[in-house]
Amino acid sequence: MKVLGIDTSCDDTSAAVLDFGGGPVRIVTNVVSSQTEIHQKYGGVVPELASRRHVEMIWPVVSEALEGGSEGLSGLDGIAVCQGPGLIGSLLVGCSFAKALTYAAGLPLVGVNHLEGHLLSPFLLEREPEFPFLALVVSGGHTSLYKVAGYGQYEELGRTRDDAAGEAYDKVSKFLGLGYPGGPELDRRAREGDPARVELPRAYLPGSFDFSFSGLKTAVRLAREREPGVPLNDVAASFQASVVDVLTRKTEWAIRTFHIRRVALSGGVAANSSLRARMKEMAREREVELFLPPPGLCTDNAAMIALAGYHRLRKGERAGLDLNPRPYLPLGVPAE
Ligand code: KG4
Ligand code: ZN
Repeated sequence: MKVLGIDTSCDDTSAAVLDFGGGPVRIVTNVVSSQTEIHQKYGGVVPELASRRHVEMIWPVVSEALEGGSEGLSGLDGIAVCQGPGLIGSLLVGCSFAKALTYAAGLPLVGVNHLEGHLLSPFLLEREPEFPFLALVVSGGHTSLYKVAGYGQYEELGRTRDDAAGEAYDKVSKFLGLGYPGGPELDRRAREGDPARVELPRAYLPGSFDFSFSGLKTAVRLAREREPGVPLNDVAASFQASVVDVLTRKTEWAIRTFHIRRVALSGGVAANSSLRARMKEMAREREVELFLPPPGLCTDNAAMIALAGYHRLRKGERAGLDLNPRPYLPLGVPAE
């Protein structure tokens, strides 16, 4: 069974073909067209420019994904499209395009939650996680911790109460004049900096699996005003140490609380070198299995949408031509 996945939730146009024909899943193609250059000069994603670029790129990106699969549309068994959460204009392009393809080719269609795509991306690895596992999804729009009992069975243990971790990276970077997107740049600079140079808070929120990164952002600003001469690399390293400490410690706490010995990391911030190193260290110490997709599968991509879509299609789920994008689309059920 071959599935085409399409993701246009934010500022990347992406299409992928996955082959589920026995044995481990095979990524036949995974094409991502980035819009970073367009949004860079504004210091963040401009929604209207994002949708216009999606309109230009959707056909070339989908064609490239299909051509790499050699058999084109006729070799497919289904189409999965990201339905939300995301920017309404961006989502609309992907959903409309997927519906048109479905209609033209007579293929089944399914709508996928972007967060489910991230959460299941560790299943693109050679060694798949077994259920149940803990999933930390850390991206530009979301930071949540889930208990995953099976496909489609997601219990949200906690989520950010304000900014997502990636959003904090992007905003701190903008404030420091380091450009967009902030994650990769701060990650690079942090490697050269002293993480103990600037004293910053850690929002552990005891008794809750929720997160909070907005106070940290303000603390960086205040520290900068107090001591403007601190090298940027040290500010980056100190900021990153706070984010990584909180994400790692709270995951560790969930492992102890729920006695679940498998942890999967996903979302753009899971590409962060320090978070990856710390999580590996923690997993080794606590003797838990860690599932960490390569950086290219942590950031937005359509392979994860095809994968999540495949499991929905297999269960018989189908979307009609009335499928609409949903900018706010929660995933799973909140923990009691
Ligand atoms: O998952 P993603 O591609 O898109 C969303 O669904 O939001 O995540 C994008 C976010 C951005 O905030 C970006 O700054 C962050 O992931 N990011 C990183 C790194 N690479 C991307 N954050 C920290 N370190 C990185 N290396
Ligand atoms: Zn994402």
